[in-house]
Amino acid sequence: MADSSEELIGSVVSAAKLAEKQAEEEALFISQHPASLRLSQESTQNLLNGVPMPWMARLPGSFPLFVDKAKGARFTDADGIEYLDLCLGDTGAMTGHGITEIADAIYSRAQQGITTMCPSTDAGWVATELSRRFGLPLWQMAMTATDANRFVLRYCRYITGKPKIAVMDWCYHGTVDETLAVLDESTGEVVPRPGAIGPQVHVSHTTRVAQFNDLASLEAVLAHGDVACLLMEPALTNIGIVLPEEGYLTAVRALTRAHNVLLVIDETHTICAGPGGATAAWGLEPDFLVIGKPIGGGMPVAAYGMTAEVGEKLRSHLHADDVDVSGVGGTLTGNTMALAAVRATLTHTLRAEDYSHMIPLATAFAAGVKATIDEFSLPWTVQQLGCRAEYWFCPPPKNGAQAAAANFHSLETYFHLYCLNRGVLLTPFHNMALFSPHHKLEDVDKHSAVFREAVMSLLG
Ligand SMILES: Cc1ncc(COP(=O)(O)O)c(C=O)c1O
Repeated sequence: MADSSEELIGSVVSAAKLAEKQAEEEALFISQHPASLRLSQESTQNLLNGVPMPWMARLPGSFPLFVDKAKGARFTDADGIEYLDLCLGDTGAMTGHGITEIADAIYSRAQQGITTMCPSTDAGWVATELSRRFGLPLWQMAMTATDANRFVLRYCRYITGKPKIAVMDWCYHGTVDETLAVLDESTGEVVPRPGAIGPQVHVSHTTRVAQFNDLASLEAVLAHGDVACLLMEPALTNIGIVLPEEGYLTAVRALTRAHNVLLVIDETHTICAGPGGATAAWGLEPDFLVIGKPIGGGMPVAAYGMTAEVGEKLRSHLHADDVDVSGVGGTLTGNTMALAAVRATLTHTLRAEDYSHMIPLATAFAAGVKATIDEFSLPWTVQQLGCRAEYWFCPPPKNGAQAAAANFHSLETYFHLYCLNRGVLLTPFHNMALFSPHHKLEDVDKHSAVFREAVMSLLG
């Protein structure tokens, strides 16, 4: 055990010892990945920061891991090392990788023309299936969940004539400027989320922010009378998993109705709760619902659903001649490959029978982690939401502010790298694991063993 005179990070290790162990893992990472090192050196010449997209540099290790191929629950890097993938493209590949039926559908559609600006013959099937799963009758497509959220926010302001939107503190709904807002801890003012860059206007002009699991805070936000919609995840997943308290979501719906505020549920991550997301699993009644990431098996495609009442209010606008400059668009949206990918995904994976396999794996993951926590009497906890589970180095937070304050960055970084060096990739944000229909109990056991070893490496 570390020197008791020093404060222990996560009640387990001193900063000095953690730095020493981290350096050992960094050295191991470098020695294992000569090909990725070479590729990263080449990439830095013409790729800003050496990666095609900024947060690819956030994965563990002192340079990015370059991926050769991915299949099912695994991927192989440029050095030929195979990894158990518990990240699954941060939900984008929740189906598992390289699914034959999805790949075939995309290939076959691509050969017959990708984009015509007319609906393809898969369009109606896709909307019917989305309706069946999520319970909303009318659907539109987008390229990404970010786009879908942006479009829905526009529609909400258009329908209600109210200028602002409301979100939850420390939410994440993609790169939507209006949603990159948090409450200042000391003043309670709406301020830009740390790290958000270049907004058109200060977020306090566009956005009100409520605290998750806090009805009084939401009531105060809605009482201003200028909020068009509340956009929220039914459980926060992007600041770690924060589950709704009993009765909270029912009360949120009642409050939004009382204030004439549209409720937008973003199921992009909470689709982990079941085939119809938390909306179907928990009987929610949103006015709009957004779903992105896994519905195309990794293809960039998203969708948003709405009630008949909302659809009626949008209909006249959708028939106007100037609909193409409404701010809702995307020339390639609804292309044949995207719709074929959604059809194949929803036909062959992410079905009730798949969740019956995936959810018990997340339960087993949580139990495996908890066994080590209990063995070493650590004050750590595990949360689960459907086929997603994660561990915290503290008690489970109740809201976004508490989750953001539970900052164990150096310890998280160590666990991520320790796992990666032993062939397990966690989601780079928090200590999160996601399960696809292609994972097996042996995969969970592998993580449980590596997690225990990682804990012991710090205690020893
Ligand atoms: C809840 C939620 N909504 C929307 C998005 C944005 O998805 P995309 O980056 O695919 O646009 C994310 C991304 O993590 C998300 O977690």
